[in-house]
Amino acid sequence: MTAPRVQLATLPTPLVRAERLESALDAGPLFVKRDDLTGFGVAGNKARALEFLIGAALAEEADVFVTAGSPSSNFCAATALAATVVGMDCDLLFPGAPPPTTSVNVELARAAGARLLFEATATRDDLNRAVVAHADSLRSQGRRPYAVPRGGAVPVGALGYAEAARELAEQCDGAGFRVETVVVATGSGGTQAGLVAGQVGFGLPGRVTGASVSRPIHGMAEHVLGTARACAATAGLAQAAAADVDLRDARGGGFGVVSAEDAASARLALEREGLLLDDYYGAKSMTVFRALLAAGAPTPAVFWHTGGVAAALTSLTRGAA
Ligand SMILES: Cc1ncc(COP(=O)(O)O)c(C=O)c1O
Repeated sequence: MTAPRVQLATLPTPLVRAERLESALDAGPLFVKRDDLTGFGVAGNKARALEFLIGAALAEEADVFVTAGSPSSNFCAATALAATVVGMDCDLLFPGAPPPTTSVNVELARAAGARLLFEATATRDDLNRAVVAHADSLRSQGRRPYAVPRGGAVPVGALGYAEAARELAEQCDGAGFRVETVVVATGSGGTQAGLVAGQVGFGLPGRVTGASVSRPIHGMAEHVLGTARACAATAGLAQAAAADVDLRDARGGGFGVVSAEDAASARLALEREGLLLDDYYGAKSMTVFRALLAAGAPTPAVFWHTGGVAAALTSLTRGAA
């Protein structure tokens, strides 16, 4: 892939056999793709997207990176850190007032020197428009902004997971098995879009299922497919079809609201494999993984651990309060 890229993550991340999970779920072989270990701050999956987004921003000679999210956003914190290590300013837009209790991700972004712009919009839904407007206003002041929507779910960001699909394919080949089922958490959709583009383009076998944790699956499937196709076009890869996008509704009671099943999923992962799963992404995608296996999904199966370590530790601390 020739797209500009800045090295941030430590790759490849491990692909680990999960034998205690196999005995608990009575299914296998099962593997965990450890993208909680991408090794750049606590960026998890977002480190892969940012390698290409920061690469593109530098190639365009941008001097300020602009994005947005909720105060819990892993992407915002990871972006602030990535911008600072390449010497770029970072403006982060948040909806509403600062939350009454701060969060690890907000403080990490602040520590990395980002400008935190609260009250940018009334709700999360308006944030992407506010990013465009903020970039326009910076431009009118003579700055050179590089602006991306929430989660970095744009074709350039998805390149990170197109490469990750190639990485998984190589690891499975090296270990001598053909993967049948892959489950990943889907929020803004960039991660799954990249995986779909890379799966088709690099010949990763099996089915990639996205656990949609915050958005209804209907519009989301089209969004993921559109981003996957644009990503494939950027990378010169074969085009995905609608059938390549599989999404399950994992929202339950809402974004970050865990059901009893989700709590059981997080406990299982912690107690059996020493994995930290957060309430927003990890626990819900593990619930989908368990449900697919219980319904007879073919194995070998891979649970893609996307990170979320900051929130996972925070909810453990709250549970103890
Ligand atoms: C820990 C974690 N997992 C999964 C996702 C979902 O990735 P995407 O927004 O690319 O769908 C995110 C997004 O912020 C995340 O922080």
